[in-house]
Amino acid sequence: TWTMVNIVEEQVEAIRAQVGETGRAICGLSGGVDSAVAAALVQRAIGDRLTCVFVDHGLLRKGEAEQVERDFVAATGVSLHVVDAQRRFLDALAGVSDPEEKRKTIGREFIRVFEAAEAEVLGDAAEAGEKVAFLVQGTLYPDVVESGGGAGTHNIKSHHNVGGLPDDLEFELVEPLRTLFKDEVRLVGEQLGLPAEIVWRHPFPGPGLGIRIIGEVTADRLAILREADAIAREELTAAGLDRDIWQMPVVLLADVRSVGVQGDGRTYGHPVVLRPVTSEDAMTADWARLPYEVMERISTRITNEVAEVNRVTVDITSKPPGTIEWE
Ligand code: XMP
Repeated sequence: TWTMVNIVEEQVEAIRAQVGETGRAICGLSGGVDSAVAAALVQRAIGDRLTCVFVDHGLLRKGEAEQVERDFVAATGVSLHVVDAQRRFLDALAGVSDPEEKRKTIGREFIRVFEAAEAEVLGDAAEAGEKVAFLVQGTLYPDVVESGGGAGTHNIKSHHNVGGLPDDLEFELVEPLRTLFKDEVRLVGEQLGLPAEIVWRHPFPGPGLGIRIIGEVTADRLAILREADAIAREELTAAGLDRDIWQMPVVLLADVRSVGVQGDGRTYGHPVVLRPVTSEDAMTADWARLPYEVMERISTRITNEVAEVNRVTVDITSKPPGTIEWE
């Protein structure tokens, strides 16, 4: 639309003015819409002087790493630095089943891996006699208001404990989405030609599937949840419900088993929980009254296609008292 074209042009100009003719920028991609749109805008403004970093922690849903590595790159031509940290995250999560400890572990590893990647990108730039001075972030208007942030840019200090970098290294933030609401960000993303799967992605937590496995996170359990989640998402999309539902976590009760029967055989598998909710802002939520036919298709497909799952249940708790995620 005309307005979105304007926003894109305006932001591209503003980014050019801020970063200048020679400045270089770095941006972390999460798979979500905000970082993707912010990166795409900066790419349009300064091209190869932007490097994106994507840490694959192995906790994304089926197809999401490929969406970033293949589809996002194809749509934007962005220069991407991928870190495959799946093994590292699994090792760090071994034996951890407490929700808070899981979150802390994932957060800590993420910062370490991201900073190491940043250092590598910075090192490459320094070798070429260039200086990376800008850090792109997908901060939205509601985030700005919530944190009481004023206008203009601010400097943050990056804590590098990875060798060879000056202690006083400072990044200036580039936040091209600071004046926008989520729905506007999505329209800008469409305007920029980003893949629909990224632009219309439901909210997804930073710790990813790690907090949707109740119990220890292992490679096998991730594989099970990824399959079940992919089926649930596929059916929700097929039913045309993506925009009515705020999000629908699928949760694997990995430490629970129940007896079932399939064909002639007894099964002893895991339950998954569908958690469809409607919400305005995730502060409160209502459980979504999914049509029975949709629940039926999801249940039939998951129990047929995911061997380790023999029961599908639906969470009918609002927030409060429940939270949206189970951990
Ligand atoms: P809860 O479970 O608190 O979730 O009702 C509210 C919303 O926040 C998302 N969520 C997160 N997002 N990092 C994120 O970026 C996190 O650690 C995180 N935890 C929860 C959740 O998916 C829901 O949209």
